[in-house]
Amino acid sequence: MALVRGGAALIYRGDYRNARQLLAAMGRRLAGRADRLGGTRSLRDLFLEERRKHRLEHETLSRLAVLIEAGPSGPRVALAKAPEVAEALTEALGTNFQLPGALPLRDLLGMVGAHEWRSKGVEVLPLGAHLRTRWGVFAPVRGEHVELVAEAVKRWPVAGKRALDVGTGTGVLGLLLARAGALVTATDISPDAVACARENAQRLAVADRMEVVEADLFGEGRFELVVCNPPWLPHEAVTALDRAVYDPGGRFLARFLDGLAAHLAPGGEGWLILSDLAERLGLRGEDELERQLEAAGLTVAGGIEAAPRHPRSRDAADPLHEARSKEVTALRRLVVRSR
Ligand SMILES: C[S@@+](CC[C@H](N)C(=O)[O-])C[C@H]1O[C@@H](n2cnc3c(N)ncnc32)[C@H](O)[C@@H]1O
Repeated sequence: MALVRGGAALIYRGDYRNARQLLAAMGRRLAGRADRLGGTRSLRDLFLEERRKHRLEHETLSRLAVLIEAGPSGPRVALAKAPEVAEALTEALGTNFQLPGALPLRDLLGMVGAHEWRSKGVEVLPLGAHLRTRWGVFAPVRGEHVELVAEAVKRWPVAGKRALDVGTGTGVLGLLLARAGALVTATDISPDAVACARENAQRLAVADRMEVVEADLFGEGRFELVVCNPPWLPHEAVTALDRAVYDPGGRFLARFLDGLAAHLAPGGEGWLILSDLAERLGLRGEDELERQLEAAGLTVAGGIEAAPRHPRSRDAADPLHEARSKEVTALRRLVVRSR
């Protein structure tokens, strides 16, 4: 453990079960150590401490690696009693992964878990369907934002509109819009998310009404409706999946707001789905969003809100419980301010 904490990487060569046990034991040691770093009280400090722990855990545990070699049916783990991982690895890494190679055991376990989860899919009630997910793609397991968009398409019909879903992930919001009759373009910067959203559009038989493109934010064109559920916490991202939740320097949100008007067709509107957790944790100033909207020439033309229902919001042992239990997620209808 001291070696790993000092920055050395270890290639484990025993059997698979022991490798997993070692990783779990290292995790427990780190958790105990990191807990002793505590002592500060503001919600912001507690959040920053949680993120420091997360980074330390990610960096340290990622140094325990296993060898991956070519097997008769694809890549396999070079450890005794290892399970079949060829499909999970090919799904997560594509076929360009160099063999033999090394992978952090933690990532390998994540890929195997994602593969199992992927075969079942994530149930999305407002869609009445299970969506496929992939390793590193944000899965809509928290339902508030999906329910807000499902409610919005009932209140403000989208049939026949040209709509853009910025940062589509599994494609969930674009799929809701396409099902409600919109002609959708969906973007994501992550190639895995793009592949995942395309697959879901095909499985839900709306691929003729939903095009998915790899792009930074808006891509090309103007739309009557632009929908976005951005990463909602302005803070550094540590892992690939973190990039769906954390928005370093608040740049995604700032760029989205600054660029929205230029991507709206005349009379068009944006639906921004954003929780107020950042304000509650002191990561974004109380009136900062308002100022950004003003500076971007946008105004709020109404919207709807949802209280938190996800399990973490009910976990009284969570150090951030006070903020998470009161978090409000809002869908704001943004329009260009008339001069
Ligand atoms: C909070 S997730 C939302 C995913 C999905 N729309 C949903 O509601 O479940 C944010 C998404 O934005 C994507 N993203 C991050 N930066 C991006 C960028 N610069 N351009 C396009 N998409 C981006 C992430 O890959 C992620 O899929």
